[in-house]
Amino acid sequence: MSVTTSRQPRPSAQPGSGTPKVTVQTIQQKKRDRSPIACLTAYDYPTARLTDEAGVDLILVGDSLGMVVLGYESTLPVTMEEMLHHTRAVRRAVRRAMVVADMPYGSYHGRVDEAVANATRFLKEAGAEAVKIEGGANRSKLVRALCDAEVPVLGHIGLTPQSLHKMGGYKVQGKTVAAFDALIDDARALEAAGCFAIVLEGVPSALAASVTNEVAIPTIGIGAGAECDGQILVFHDLVNLTFAPAAKFVRRYADAAQLFRDAITRYCEDVAQRSFPADAESYHLPTETAALLASRPAAAHAKPRTLRAIPKKA
Ligand code: KIV
Repeated sequence: MSVTTSRQPRPSAQPGSGTPKVTVQTIQQKKRDRSPIACLTAYDYPTARLTDEAGVDLILVGDSLGMVVLGYESTLPVTMEEMLHHTRAVRRAVRRAMVVADMPYGSYHGRVDEAVANATRFLKEAGAEAVKIEGGANRSKLVRALCDAEVPVLGHIGLTPQSLHKMGGYKVQGKTVAAFDALIDDARALEAAGCFAIVLEGVPSALAASVTNEVAIPTIGIGAGAECDGQILVFHDLVNLTFAPAAKFVRRYADAAQLFRDAITRYCEDVAQRSFPADAESYHLPTETAALLASRPAAAHAKPRTLRAIPKKA
């Protein structure tokens, strides 16, 4: 930690502060008002703080963090502890947006009571305001149990990355009539079970539009066209920090990889040329201390250190 690192205080999103806190009710009202819902993933303090300050409504601590932050090949290895760790960091940064934690693979696929216990950890230990789970009608019982335990649930259907092996890869879903109808049934089932909103990922825009019309809860699209009630993207896709070509549905709003690369290269050059740090970037002895040291008899250890070239190996 740098001794110079200190953070600027922010206004908190408290009643009367002029920045009202986004809640489940705010998100649902936005659908009724036909006001688009802006959502984004974040996994750490700085990106969550920037995302919140920019006015995003809902911040998802997605298990995509396994791929874009932790370097896993898929989201499947992500653990509860990793999700809790990142959710806490995001929570510390966010004042206004709603914070939703993604339940990792395996944390809700067994017994309902275990899944509820895992979900409540996100609210109790990490400050999340809701959890997201992947799956449709097959999750109805679990969604009901979570709602009974006062845990708001964001559903996620269509291309569900935790079903990677079942789907046979990351493929657009809902392309046949049967799959089209099944997805609408899934959305209806999630709504009936109590989800406050549903993520629709990787589905044809006509299907997303139908789901959006069919359910009274908001739909949040990613690779699902423009007719959803809101949109979500992975932060690292948005700013080009993924080291992979962008998927069709991604719009790159910045090139952070290039920005960081340039900054790091220039830093290395400056260190190599000893132009960093400059005198203005260095600490100095108080005048009095410098004078006292200068008046002392010269001692071997006080002599200025001479920089010797390291002899080259033969
Ligand atoms: O994990 C994630 O980031 C997600 C979004 C892509 C919806 O599930």
